[in-house]
Amino acid sequence: MPFKTDLTWSDVTPKAQWMSRRKLLAGAGALIAAPTLGGPALASIQAAKSALSTDEAPNSLEDITSYNNFYEFGLDKADPARNAGQLTTDPWSVQIDGLVDKPGSYDLADLLAGAPLEERIYRFRCVEAWSMVIPWIGFELSHLLARVGVQSGARYVAFETLVRPEEMPGQRSAILDWPYREGLRLDEAMHPLTILATGLYGEAMPNQNGAPIRLVVPWKYGFKSIKSIVRISLTAEQPQTTWNMQNAREYGFYSNVNPTVDHPRWSQASERRVGGGLFAGRVDTQMFNGYADQVVQLYAGQDLAKDF
Ligand code: MTE
Repeated sequence: MPFKTDLTWSDVTPKAQWMSRRKLLAGAGALIAAPTLGGPALASIQAAKSALSTDEAPNSLEDITSYNNFYEFGLDKADPARNAGQLTTDPWSVQIDGLVDKPGSYDLADLLAGAPLEERIYRFRCVEAWSMVIPWIGFELSHLLARVGVQSGARYVAFETLVRPEEMPGQRSAILDWPYREGLRLDEAMHPLTILATGLYGEAMPNQNGAPIRLVVPWKYGFKSIKSIVRISLTAEQPQTTWNMQNAREYGFYSNVNPTVDHPRWSQASERRVGGGLFAGRVDTQMFNGYADQVVQLYAGQDLAKDF
């Protein structure tokens, strides 16, 4: 896995285009975040820091936007920053269906209307044993689920990413069974730590991080945090998920961060903090990525070696 620090987001996108788009999206966010303020749209998303944030220092914007996994744009960590600028994120709508009272195709602006945006600084642990600290802007998924009305038979939430091979070069080959799919049990989806993120570092989401809207579930391996979501379905049955479909022995449905359950091909006991240098940043991995106090009760009675 090459670790590249030479590319930045602004290197791959003309600066003017990058700024104007971000201002546009961030402005919409600012109005949503502070509807009583009125006045002109602000240049950044005004969102108070949530008490659910970690005190750890965030990684740099450069780390967060230049070292990514987003296979729709290629396999290399530098590919998303290089290729994701092509993705058109406006207009954007999300299909919400299955066991909900108000199914439909929701325009992103409708979806965000009234959403209580906050800054959530979360530890983020990838299954490949690297980690970062990321200052997301987002709102609790439970807020959206309450709005669309979850029906009593629903037990899981399924998510899908956009399929658009014209703009997503990785989708021109069958490296994964597109669309990228993820899923949560309903109680995991309703947990206050689970957010839909629309930005980071106080600005609209960079394309390589999953613009315009992605999931973040901080106690699970990073691949559960699906990017560029176009569909959310409430289901009775456990949904299929991309990495589990790809290799069920290596990637379970739950994929909770667990230093005591190794990946069949490598240890999960420690992780490399991106930006800390190749060897300098190695730290012990914490159970549930350090969020055990908040989430352990979700798995009471489950064998986490079996339900990995
Ligand atoms: N979502 C989609 N649609 N496609 C992907 O390839 N990669 C996952 C996850 N979400 C991925 C995705 C993986 S493996 C990780 S570690 C995180 O996104 C990386 O998020 P980041 O690039 O914002 O750090």
